[in-house]
Amino acid sequence: MTTYTDLRFPQGFLWGCGTAAHQVEGNNTNNNWWEWEQEGGHIKGGDVSGLACDHYNRFDSDFALAQELGHNAHRLSVEWSRIEPEEGRWDMKEVDHYRKVMESLHRHGLVPMVTLHHFTNPIWLERMGGWSNPRSVDLIARFSGFIAKELGDLVPYWFTINEPMVIVVASYIAAEHPPRQQDWSAAMTVSRHLLQAHGAMYRAVKESTTHNPLVGPVHNMPYIEPYDPDSEHDRNAAALADLLMNEYFLAGIDTGTVGPPAGQGEEVAGLKGAWDFIGMNYYSRHRMAHDRPIDPAGLPPPDAELTEMGYEVFPEGFYRQLARLKKYAPPVFVTENGLSTKDDSQRCRHLLRHLAALHRAMQEGTDIRGYLHWTMVDNFEWAEGYQQWFGMVAMEPGTLKRLPRPSAYLFRDIARRNAVTAAMLREHLG
Ligand code: FCB
Repeated sequence: MTTYTDLRFPQGFLWGCGTAAHQVEGNNTNNNWWEWEQEGGHIKGGDVSGLACDHYNRFDSDFALAQELGHNAHRLSVEWSRIEPEEGRWDMKEVDHYRKVMESLHRHGLVPMVTLHHFTNPIWLERMGGWSNPRSVDLIARFSGFIAKELGDLVPYWFTINEPMVIVVASYIAAEHPPRQQDWSAAMTVSRHLLQAHGAMYRAVKESTTHNPLVGPVHNMPYIEPYDPDSEHDRNAAALADLLMNEYFLAGIDTGTVGPPAGQGEEVAGLKGAWDFIGMNYYSRHRMAHDRPIDPAGLPPPDAELTEMGYEVFPEGFYRQLARLKKYAPPVFVTENGLSTKDDSQRCRHLLRHLAALHRAMQEGTDIRGYLHWTMVDNFEWAEGYQQWFGMVAMEPGTLKRLPRPSAYLFRDIARRNAVTAAMLREHLG
């Protein structure tokens, strides 16, 4: 029998969930995803985001629920296409909406952690080529400065671009997200622009408010291994994928240069050290085979425990990727971690095993300040539509009523105690 001990977290540790505007708000009619959904044929089951969780109208009761569920922080994104519906025109009604959202977070004891870009582009930007247009760098920096000036008094933490390298892979290599291209050269151009944009956004936020905001990236860090460790080709494929997905962006900020595979060390003014923390997302292990197309599920071993997305449950990779972040100076927030499952007891086990991995990385010296689970309420899962269940809270079809699952209460107890107890581990992991 395994002997468990309590795992305690440092005082002030942040506990909460993450969301993205397009996945929860509803009626985000002015961005490239909405447009793409209407084309048909791109989203599983022909789904469209539609009303999503109607969070645009229900944010106050959602935050009240988060508070009841023990959260003390909340990650969400502001929707650029609402705030700047046409290039250079600010919609102050929407700014006012987000001000109310941030005020509601404060009222409910939730620290606002705000993402400036989470996958969606305003249609006007998409029409000029989106991230492949070099102007995207200045345009998003201007937006970031504007909204930080407007909301700076209410937002202590800003994230620049959600998962830049997922944008590169999903939109320009694997052709799963709009503009659905398979073009290595475009992927490299976009990789450069995203890194430049991060630096420009960091500076824009810092310069726009006197409230000393903390700003950083959100980086998805799959644990990457060769499919066949004995194959040199697979090892090379894994090394390239790891360089692109995991190293390139963080090394870029650390050194202030565009390194391989998208550059040769060209300096970017203002990029070096443009992070006050690292936002880290982790879902799974990905095994790379040189002779197979990129598989979002990462070619799991035959005996692996899988999620509804087909991803492997691999907490060891979470530990290793967190340990890897020790070499960089800034502290870490886990900004996403979770799974899609119809079996909530699997979610409970997943949560505990990942928190144990996080705790171990922390004990061994990675400075981790918070854990934001993905996600609170089931929502619109991009190209998977509504066919996935990432929520600790279910949403009743039709009424959109929020129905907490047992994992939501387990998470509440962890957050309130600021600890995973031995009893919890015994109960769920046996
Ligand atoms: C991440 C995205 C997030 C959500 C989760 C499941 O890659 O950032 O919006 O879709 O995956």
